[in-house]
Amino acid sequence: MPKSNPSSTSNPQLKILLTEGIHPVAQKKLQDEGYHVDLLTHAPTEDEYIKLLTGYNVLGIRSKSEITRNILESQSHLLGIGAFCIGTNQIDLAAAALCGIPVFNAPYSNTRSVAELVLAEMIILSRQLGDRNSKAHQGEWVKSAEGSKEIRGKTIGIIGYGHIGSQVSVLAEALGMKVIFYDAVKKLSLGNAQSKSTLNALLAEADFVTLHVPETLSTQNMIAAREFEKMKPGSYLINASRGSVVKIEDLVFALQSGHLAGCAIDVFPEEPASNKQKFTTPLQGMKNVILTPHIGGSTEEAQYAIGLEVAESFRKFLQFGTTAWSVNFPQIDLLPPKEGVVRIMNVHSNEPGVLSEINGYISAAKANIQAQHLSTDTQIGYLVVDLEMHQAQTTAEDLVKKITASPKSIKTRIL
Ligand code: NAI
Repeated sequence: MPKSNPSSTSNPQLKILLTEGIHPVAQKKLQDEGYHVDLLTHAPTEDEYIKLLTGYNVLGIRSKSEITRNILESQSHLLGIGAFCIGTNQIDLAAAALCGIPVFNAPYSNTRSVAELVLAEMIILSRQLGDRNSKAHQGEWVKSAEGSKEIRGKTIGIIGYGHIGSQVSVLAEALGMKVIFYDAVKKLSLGNAQSKSTLNALLAEADFVTLHVPETLSTQNMIAAREFEKMKPGSYLINASRGSVVKIEDLVFALQSGHLAGCAIDVFPEEPASNKQKFTTPLQGMKNVILTPHIGGSTEEAQYAIGLEVAESFRKFLQFGTTAWSVNFPQIDLLPPKEGVVRIMNVHSNEPGVLSEINGYISAAKANIQAQHLSTDTQIGYLVVDLEMHQAQTTAEDLVKKITASPKSIKTRIL
């Protein structure tokens, strides 16, 4: 396991590399904090990263970089990684943790963008705008009120009342809709929204069913033939959550039979890896079916918010040692250290005796512990110690060298 060099990690002019054209707001925010920030527009290869990263302490990527164990183990001075997106499966998270590197992302910066898309889609479906738009472009004039309805007074059924679901709830109510929701855990209803105790109760009542659950074993094919049968005739389905939640063949059947009046699908069981690949789904060409290429969260506002959110996580981590909201690391949320106090951060293997070993070095140095925070997971421990060094018989740097030399220590730095 690589060990960090304490002198490099306590350098105040930390260098940050942002790749893949991350929104410039992140660079500005981090430069304003006094960091040296370099930008790349492309996603470097593994070899490029191994060479490039030797000059940097923090890395920001989006979804196209593959951050492998090889890269991570070759960069003992790397302190943190930010995924300026939602997903983090492009990073070997377990290897990063074992190298003492927390990974941050921005899970909620695009919440509102998804909620707005869902709102738009209800009106689009209700007025058959997708088909009428295509026909008008092809020179066909389809002026008719048949099957077109307002959404005012209709019932929206929200499955998953988390960040996105609850935003949809507030916006739908503002448009005059009745809101019902179903969640696996008890949630506070916003406005006049009513919680339903079962999925079936929601399906039986909703004119629009919209999905906002995560991809888990419990949500896999959560909406399939049995659920479509429970939905009201003439109702609509919207899925901007994850492709695995809806069984597409059963959806096709529910549409073909006329039981469902339409659907809007943003996420698919199989999605192209890039804009250059061809996209196919059995839903193509069907009546009143809106298909979008996983763009629920893709807005300029969301990219801006992601830039700010991850840059803020970097700031709090580099300046205070905070790892709250990290996706792979024991979490500690910290305030700045008090005046005159030295803060030391240590990542170690989670084995018995590490804390007493480190505290032994501290007490031998006659440094006074002003505050101590420890958080662990099954593999690693993250320790933050605030020390008063007035009466100490050694410098903080020497103390860090001692801690670093411990075989159980993975990474140590001074703020
Ligand atoms: P969240 O974690 O805030 O909310 C999810 C909710 O679903 C929670 O309240 C949870 O209790 C509930 N839930 C989990 N399992 C359930 C089950 N079996 N039955 C009923 N409820 C269940 O997540 P957030 O941020 O609201 O995201 C929701 C979904 O939207 C996720 O799948 C996410 O990946 C997706 N998403 C899609 C985007 C797009 O571009 N289309 C962009 C952002 C998120």
